Amino acid sequence: MTRKISLSGIKPTGTLHLGNYLGMIRPALELVKEYRAIYFIADAHALNQLRDAARLESLTYEIAAHLLALGLDPDEVVFFRQSDVPEIFELTVILAASTSKGLLNRAHAYKAAVDANLAAGRDMDAGVNAGLYTYPVLMAADILLYGSHVVPVGQDQRQHVEMAADIAQTFNHAYGEVLVVPEALIRPEVALVPGTDGRKMSKSYANVIPIFAPARQLRKQIMGILTDSRPPEQPKDPAACNLFALYQHFAAPDQAEAMRQRYLAGGFGYGEVKAELFEALEARFGAARERYENYMADRLFLEKTLLRGADRARAIGGPLLERVRAACGLRYYTARG
Ligand code: ADP
Ligand code: TRP
Repeated sequence: MTRKISLSGIKPTGTLHLGNYLGMIRPALELVKEYRAIYFIADAHALNQLRDAARLESLTYEIAAHLLALGLDPDEVVFFRQSDVPEIFELTVILAASTSKGLLNRAHAYKAAVDANLAAGRDMDAGVNAGLYTYPVLMAADILLYGSHVVPVGQDQRQHVEMAADIAQTFNHAYGEVLVVPEALIRPEVALVPGTDGRKMSKSYANVIPIFAPARQLRKQIMGILTDSRPPEQPKDPAACNLFALYQHFAAPDQAEAMRQRYLAGGFGYGEVKAELFEALEARFGAARERYENYMADRLFLEKTLLRGADRARAIGGPLLERVRAACGLRYYTARG
């Protein structure tokens, strides 16, 4: 029996952090055995935020090196760079015709930009490019091109995956069951990992802990995690603590449970938890950080790996695109001879 497909992407717009790791990278890597995995670096999506070719290129290699160091096996996973698969862009144009403008008006990222403009008394679309507006269509093409069944992501991407499902249904309604309707796979316990200030950990908020921060920086960032001001002797609520929210995912289950009990009992300071979190992160990522440095020193290997992945992605996506073209009345490439 052929395995179902798990697909996910990540934009090269900044350094990867623990929110990315817990919310998307770890769950995606855990699916590799059960699903056929297709994971990629969404560099075309990053164009909406970055205006610096050299930085886009180096961030792309950084993401590649992160994922390989964290255990992505490029023989097992189809791993590539979005812009190496031109079929995605062709499918984007075709899907745009099955996407209602109203759907795009409701996208959170676009709505947030409009709300910020209106609050500042500006024109509602000031500074909004069409790439931001049509972002969900490109993302739908990413997902639908390979017949993906599940899309492991954090909570903030749920709406985008639902939009891809909506677009697939609209297309299928008109042309028959050509596209697989995908589903977001979101782990409730890591759907929204808090940052050092308690808001969602996000590179937009400068509250992130990078996965491969050097030890000194890591220690400093952990020390900066915001906690309440309860003195050591008082009992504390683990469920309401940002520090515990991170600690529980990196400690062994029995350690996490012991720490939960200590919170409830009181009699210790947050500084102790911070020191334990530091140890747990060092233990988890120390060796991977070294592998990361080695990958970063070998761009040729990264480049070859991504190109090989792109060939495999095109071999899966190409035939599906042909079926899409045929279904909606565009000519088959193969028939053009
Ligand atoms: P950022 O918010 O830092 O820009 P991205 O939007 O690039 O992060 O997210 C990449 C992936 O990581 C997505 O699947 C997203 O849902 C997930 N993710 C990002 N931040 C978090 C978080 N704080 N908690 C859980 N998942 C997250
Ligand atoms: N929009 C996603 C993010 O910001 C990245 C992404 C692009 C993606 N295409 C995708 C995620 C397809 C899952 C599937 O994180």
